[in-house]
Amino acid sequence: MTISDRVRNINPSQTLAITAQALKMKREGKKVISFAAGEPDFDTPENIKKEAISAIKNGFTKYTASSGIIELKEAIIEKLKKDNYVEYKTSEIIISNGAKQCLFNAILTLCNPGDEVLLPTPCWVSYTEQIKFAQAVPIFIKTNQEEDFKLLAAQVEEKISPRTKLLILNSPNNPTGAVYEPEELKKIAQLLLKYNIYCLCDEIYEKLIYDNAEHLTIASLSKEVKEKIIIINGVSKSYAMTGWRIGYAAGPEEIISGMSKIQGHSTSNPNSIAQKASVEALLGRQDTIEAMRKAFDERRKYMVERLNKIEGVSCLAPSGAFYAFPNVSKILKKGIEYNGKKIDNSFDLSNFILQEAEVALIPGSAFEAEGYLRLSYAASLEDIKEGLSRIENIL
Ligand SMILES: Cc1ncc(COP(=O)(O)O)c(C=O)c1O
Repeated sequence: MTISDRVRNINPSQTLAITAQALKMKREGKKVISFAAGEPDFDTPENIKKEAISAIKNGFTKYTASSGIIELKEAIIEKLKKDNYVEYKTSEIIISNGAKQCLFNAILTLCNPGDEVLLPTPCWVSYTEQIKFAQAVPIFIKTNQEEDFKLLAAQVEEKISPRTKLLILNSPNNPTGAVYEPEELKKIAQLLLKYNIYCLCDEIYEKLIYDNAEHLTIASLSKEVKEKIIIINGVSKSYAMTGWRIGYAAGPEEIISGMSKIQGHSTSNPNSIAQKASVEALLGRQDTIEAMRKAFDERRKYMVERLNKIEGVSCLAPSGAFYAFPNVSKILKKGIEYNGKKIDNSFDLSNFILQEAEVALIPGSAFEAEGYLRLSYAASLEDIKEGLSRIENIL
């Protein structure tokens, strides 16, 4: 066998199939509207770009320390103190090629083969595959639409076993937009101490929250809890910097040092120029973020209202991130006839919507949640209006 078991066990991204098909249709001249994107449609703010240009002009174009430059680590420390009420030292911070690499390094650092990782679903696609890559075992915890997809401590405790090593929390959540309740998170933090479990807190959508939702960084609860937490964050979503590839992690020195070892032998430092730009993102003017958040909020309200008007669709108002996650199980139960076949799953429904309405979106099955669709509202209001009208018409 040419390919290793480790790689053969990893599933290719389902979402890529839809995205590739949408691109092909666009190249054929079709007016495809995309609600598939996992990134802001805004440009990176000018003040951040300017810092990158200065870095190039000043020759800041060489290798840096593998785990990132001190200047950016200090900016991250300041941000975590100011926004999240938690204090770290530079030895407790690593900067990587996006939050994705931080997650990958952290899972590989913490998990031995056979260790169990608790993963609330619906969940972002890469967690499951990264856990499998570490030869650990994902243990899913299903959150429900009836509870606004919020994770309950009792559900976590039910799944804990002697093999449980790690819990992954992603709040605000991709794909549901759920922001977990501070009271519930405090109970979950107690479970981490009681059962000696580590927790990856993926806070990448932290700045994108709406209405009265409140984001709690559980590492701020106590010194003991902080010892169990690895905070994962980055500039991709908040500052419209997905292409710059800068993410960071904060956690106990021993774990960060393990993560740095992996990075030192794989990718080395993240891009030097992007690191300089990220200092400006974290310490420079913040009003550009608020302008983006307000635009997302307007689109969110519009999208949810329109989705709920479609027969057979029910959609919660997401409290964070930039995705709507409508329940379409009634439509699947009815079974639309298409090409001589009844559509009874979210992948086929997404494909039908792409082919017939020329709107790209992601099936819930990609997030371990059959019966749902994910629509990104990181698209212009004009496209949202047109795309939803097309979906409404064919459904
Ligand atoms: C929940 C979540 N975590 C992490 C990431 C990865 O972020 P980055 O672009 O910084 O690697 C994403 C991107 O889609 C995400 O949705």
